[in-house]
Amino acid sequence: MSHKTNGKGNNFGWFFGGSHYDVFATILGFGHSYYGRVASALPLESGMSVLDLGCGTESVGIAISERLEGHVDIHGLDLSSVQLGYATEKGERKSVPLNLYKGTMDMLPFHDDSFDLVVTSVAFCETNSDVRKGAIEEVSRVLKGDSYFAIVDCAKPILGLDTVMMLPFFMFKETADSWNNHYPDICREYGLVLENEIYIKSYVKCQLYRKL
Ligand SMILES: C[S@@+](CC[C@H](N)C(=O)[O-])C[C@H]1O[C@@H](n2cnc3c(N)ncnc32)[C@H](O)[C@@H]1O
Repeated sequence: MSHKTNGKGNNFGWFFGGSHYDVFATILGFGHSYYGRVASALPLESGMSVLDLGCGTESVGIAISERLEGHVDIHGLDLSSVQLGYATEKGERKSVPLNLYKGTMDMLPFHDDSFDLVVTSVAFCETNSDVRKGAIEEVSRVLKGDSYFAIVDCAKPILGLDTVMMLPFFMFKETADSWNNHYPDICREYGLVLENEIYIKSYVKCQLYRKL
């Protein structure tokens, strides 16, 4: 799905963004149950402060809030005003307060040690390796000590029908860090250590990193 790129990543604009994004995402298997599975893979605790990078229409934040019955402070950052505009609408409709920011994940407008959890879902694959590295460095800065960073991204597929559908996508170089599993090495450079990983669907993996 795309978009216009501004050097920082694929910016999901008017056609591929907002309500259209949610429709396309659902068709591709990123519907309500996908976001529920992401939320259930995360180390959630009532009252925590969560940052979602490349939040899109903030389905991840809404799923987290549903799981914690609203006892969470959700912050989402994305390049696209269209995505953020629809996220605002969705949050209001579902009565989930959302703090949304327009920006790029490798330059975060937050103080050091601000969040109990940072998550990113299928957004790293929409950027390039420099942005991803910068984002990981920034995550390590804004995450509190002993807290978690969850990278949910396209990965080397295990068997599944939807894998076949997505095969052309895997040919893009943007997925290389994930395909070749470079994230553990890059994260370790910034003091983030891999603790656990599970497949959310046949070609999407969730890796949990703890800040030392
Ligand atoms: C495939 S969508 C995923 C959205 C959402 N996380 C989800 O799981 O539905 C990728 C999102 O990343 C955003 N994005 C791409 N590059 C970015 C960057 N450098 N910083 C912040 N957001 C970015 C796009 O605008 C888009 O909304």
